[in-house]
Amino acid sequence: MGYGDVQMIDENGNRIDGRKAGDIRPIEIEMGVVPVADGSASMRWGTNYVIASVYGPMEAHPRKIQRQERAVLDVRYNMAPFSTTDRFRPGFNRRSREISKVTADALESVVLLELYPRSKIRVEIEIICAEAGTRCVGLTAASLALADAGIPMTDMVVSVASGKINGVVVCDLNKEEDNYGAADLPMGVLPNTGELVFLQMDGDLSPSEFQEAWDYNMEAALKIHELMKEAIANKYGGAQ
Ligand code: CDP
Repeated sequence: MGYGDVQMIDENGNRIDGRKAGDIRPIEIEMGVVPVADGSASMRWGTNYVIASVYGPMEAHPRKIQRQERAVLDVRYNMAPFSTTDRFRPGFNRRSREISKVTADALESVVLLELYPRSKIRVEIEIICAEAGTRCVGLTAASLALADAGIPMTDMVVSVASGKINGVVVCDLNKEEDNYGAADLPMGVLPNTGELVFLQMDGDLSPSEFQEAWDYNMEAALKIHELMKEAIANKYGGAQ
C-alpha cells in the first residue's frame, strides 16, 4: 500500500480529527510566558505547543556580525528532544538550521531593523510538542513574541500550511496528513497587505489545487490574525 492509499478523509468530507477541508486546528495564544525575556508568546495549535522568546535589541557580538546600518536577527528554531515520538539527536541539525534561516528571512521583511544599527535581536523558538506545521507555528509565535517585546514591525507574520490528501485540498495539515499526504504548502502571510514572506512546497499540486491551497492559507491567516490581535489586546488593551 502506497502513502496515497492511506484514507484520511471520509465520504462525508470529514478528516481524521473531525475537521472539514477548510477548517484550522484549535489555537490558543498566551503572551509573556517567559518573564525573563524581553518578549515572549506561546501557541497551542492542535497538539503543537511552541514557545518563542525575544531578547534585545542588544549590542551585536562578536563585532563581525554587526551591520552598521541595521540590526541583525539571530533566529534559532529548535525541537525539544521530547517533542516528538521519533527519537533523534537533540541539538542543531540541517533541518533546524534551514527552518531558522527561512524564519529569519520572513521576519526580516517586517521588523524595522534600521532603527537599531549595530544591534542584535535574538529570537528563540522552542518546539515543546510537535504535531505538524511546527515551522509555521514557530514563525507565527515569533512574530507575537517580537510584538510582546515592543519591536516595531510593519505587520505581523502569520504562517500556515495547507496541502492535499487523497486528492482533496485541505487547510492546516495535521500529523497524519503531513506524513502521508500528497502535498504540503507552508506559507507566511502579512495579513494587512496579503503579501507573502515565506513559501515552501513539497509534493505535487496542479495549478488549480495550488490556488486552492493558497486561498485556504490566506483565509486561515486572516482568522489566525484575529486571534493574535485579541491576545495582544488582552495583554495590552486597545486595538492593535
Ligand atoms: O513541522 P513541520 O511540518 O514544519 O516540518 P516537517 O519537517 O514537515 O515535519 C513534520 C512533522 O514531522 C513535525 O511537525 C514533527 O511532528 C515530525 N518530525 C519529527 O518527529 N522528527 C523530526 N526530526 C522532524 C519532524
